[in-house]
Amino acid sequence: MKLLGKDKEVSPVDTQFLADLSDITTVGRYQVIRKLGQGSMGVVYLGRDPYINRNVSIKISRPNANVPGEKLEKFRERFFLEAQSAGSLLHPNIVAVYDAGLYKDFCYITMEYVDGLPLARFCREGHLLSISKAVEIIFTVCKGLDFAHKQGLIHRDVKPSNIMISRSGRIKITDFGIAQVKSEQSSSKGLIGSPGYMSPEQVKEQPVSDTSDIFSLGCVLYEVLTGEKAFPGENCFSVMYKITHDEPTPVRVIRPELPEILWKIIQKALAKEAKQRYQSCMDFAFDLRVALRGVKGGAKTDKIENVVDYIQSVPFFEDFSKAQVKGILNSSNVFKVSSGKVIVAEGEIDDSFFILLSGKASVRKGAKRIAMIQRGECFGEMSYLSGQSRAATVVAETDCIFLKISAMLLDRAASSIQLLFLRKFALTLIRRLSKF
Ligand SMILES: Nc1ncnc2c1ncn2[C@@H]1O[C@H](COP(=O)(O)OP(=O)(O)OP(=O)(O)O)[C@@H](O)[C@H]1O
Ligand SMILES: [Mg+2]
Repeated sequence: MKLLGKDKEVSPVDTQFLADLSDITTVGRYQVIRKLGQGSMGVVYLGRDPYINRNVSIKISRPNANVPGEKLEKFRERFFLEAQSAGSLLHPNIVAVYDAGLYKDFCYITMEYVDGLPLARFCREGHLLSISKAVEIIFTVCKGLDFAHKQGLIHRDVKPSNIMISRSGRIKITDFGIAQVKSEQSSSKGLIGSPGYMSPEQVKEQPVSDTSDIFSLGCVLYEVLTGEKAFPGENCFSVMYKITHDEPTPVRVIRPELPEILWKIIQKALAKEAKQRYQSCMDFAFDLRVALRGVKGGAKTDKIENVVDYIQSVPFFEDFSKAQVKGILNSSNVFKVSSGKVIVAEGEIDDSFFILLSGKASVRKGAKRIAMIQRGECFGEMSYLSGQSRAATVVAETDCIFLKISAMLLDRAASSIQLLFLRKFALTLIRRLSKF
């Protein structure tokens, strides 16, 4: 396809591209078994790693034809840099990147092979998933994205074809990092792929942050629930206009049995202003979990099992075993408070303590802000340790999710758990004191 401007879609995968790959049998050390699919940036093959003796997926890309030598070098450089950063992501819901290399004048990347289907297959009328299954999938994608965001990586191309569902029901996000190369190619060549899931800031070519992925995931949630695109359009230009100016059709117009809460969640994820959206995927996941509770057959994700992994990844709990976290969760509460709300008030008598799981909070004495609390830090432990009333007020600076643990529970817990908590409290105190 030729490209002329932003309203034109292009694809480097043209007849020449495919012809140049027609005799492919090996790529690097990998045997090519068969073609799995094709996207706007390249072709994906099922391959076999003869050394490790496992199946892999091989994605082959090449910059647009007629790119001068210098740009070609730049493309390759970027490609490998992105493969490297994606390669550092190890999470059960993210397709692992194994290797990258050159094949003729193509670049290739080998990844974990997912024996299954992309979510795109279930975003069509007649193939829709149950509401609870659809929400559970997006909940799981939130967990993978949250992990990547905490490592400083933004996906930039979250869409149904980049979410794979394995035969055994595992959910894996693919194509991390590739979107950056794609967008760089796009800006010089027109738009590669569909803009249907881009955030308004991506459309306007403004800097993006984690909340851009949240917008894209909001589009996916809309589509997996309704079978229709949140921002449909005849061409790229009309889609991009809708993303920046229009509200999508309310989901219940399309699927009346959808609960109102899901529409509220979608609207928050799809806010045009990044600041109005969920500020973290954990925050997004929390609301999806609440919605699931109300959906028939949706109790599964509510199971403690799903939350344990996340909590274990929070710095405070890194030394706790899965069983210990599970035990603590069984007798504690996960709470969400909106930005601006008081969590703990100075002078209050209460000996429970808290661990911030997501968001930011501030410690205040009178009107003065004396410290900030970040994700994974505890607060309120002084009352527990000293038996005094609260010495300061803690206010949510953003929407926050935290774990509230009662002192009574800790007193009844096994001594190994008590010791772990006391050690963490001591480390927290040392860190706080070292700041003075
Ligand atoms: N890790 C994988 N394991 C198994 N199949 C995969 C894997 N990655 C991609 N595929 C298959 O290859 C197809 C093409 O993927 P590709 O990423 O090239 O394009 P896309 O995501 O559909 O679109 P675009 O290039 O516009 O982002 C996918 O739809 C999927 O069916
Ligand atoms: Mg893809």
